[in-house]
Amino acid sequence: MSIQVEAVSRRFEGTTAVENVSFYVEEGEIVGLLGTSGCGKSTLLRAVAGLDTGYEGTIRLHGQEKRGTSKELGIIFQEPRLMPWLTVLDNVTFGLDGPKEEQKKKALDLLEVVGLKDFADHYPKQLSGGMAQRTAIARALVTQPSTLLLDEPFSALDAFTKLQLQDMVLDLWNQYLPTMVMVTHDIDEALALCDRIIILKGQPGVLHDNLKLTQPKPRRKSDPELARVKEYILESLDITKAEKEA
Ligand SMILES: Nc1ncnc2c1ncn2[C@@H]1O[C@H](COP(=O)(O)OP(=O)(O)OP(=O)(O)O)[C@@H](O)[C@H]1O
Ligand SMILES: [Mg+2]
Repeated sequence: MSIQVEAVSRRFEGTTAVENVSFYVEEGEIVGLLGTSGCGKSTLLRAVAGLDTGYEGTIRLHGQEKRGTSKELGIIFQEPRLMPWLTVLDNVTFGLDGPKEEQKKKALDLLEVVGLKDFADHYPKQLSGGMAQRTAIARALVTQPSTLLLDEPFSALDAFTKLQLQDMVLDLWNQYLPTMVMVTHDIDEALALCDRIIILKGQPGVLHDNLKLTQPKPRRKSDPELARVKEYILESLDITKAEKEA
């Protein structure tokens, strides 16, 4: 679905997390919210998700003002948030309505997509971090949301697992073409996945730039144009040369 964020600010007692941020997400686009720690990325995503309603400004889904959660949104957090007493399968079907057999089939189909069909009967404590996060991805997809909101979904994972899951997200996107808004502070991740990158900066976070990337995906990391965009983003975020090399 399309998402319009119009002049959104969020004030908490004593702090303003984001100030007057506006951007537009087209249907089927993958949009990255990129910025340094504390610039309000999660705050904005929670507002779009309807998990927080205390913001000023307007958020429109499909052009309609919306304040509160929507069944059309699937949310993937930084940590998997699985229920330890339920199996992988039951974690995925939890919250689904309808006949049990149908639920099970839907969940198993998705567990196959995320490569966990053989782990359906396992419990969360028997999974690796990457497997747990893949379970969370299956759980978010099982309701067939038209839009996925992801808050640093891979930041707790090792570099190799992260690349695998990024590829998986691209495959899923090719299959289902969901709209996606993904919070990240990983510039390479944003450059690999996003059609548009919203750069937030400062405390309170303000919109610094809105970059459209038109390179087809999957993208080659060695693409010189992407290297230039990366350099530009690093400079915009005032990341000094020393930090880059660290
Ligand atoms: N519920 C809250 N109450 C008070 N202050 C909050 C609350 N949520 C966020 N903040 C403040 O808002 C600012 C932005 O926080 P937010 O979590 O959105 O940042 P972020 O960009 O997601 O950072 P990170 O990359 O570290 O996850 C911070 O100064 C934070 O302390
Ligand atoms: Mg955050």
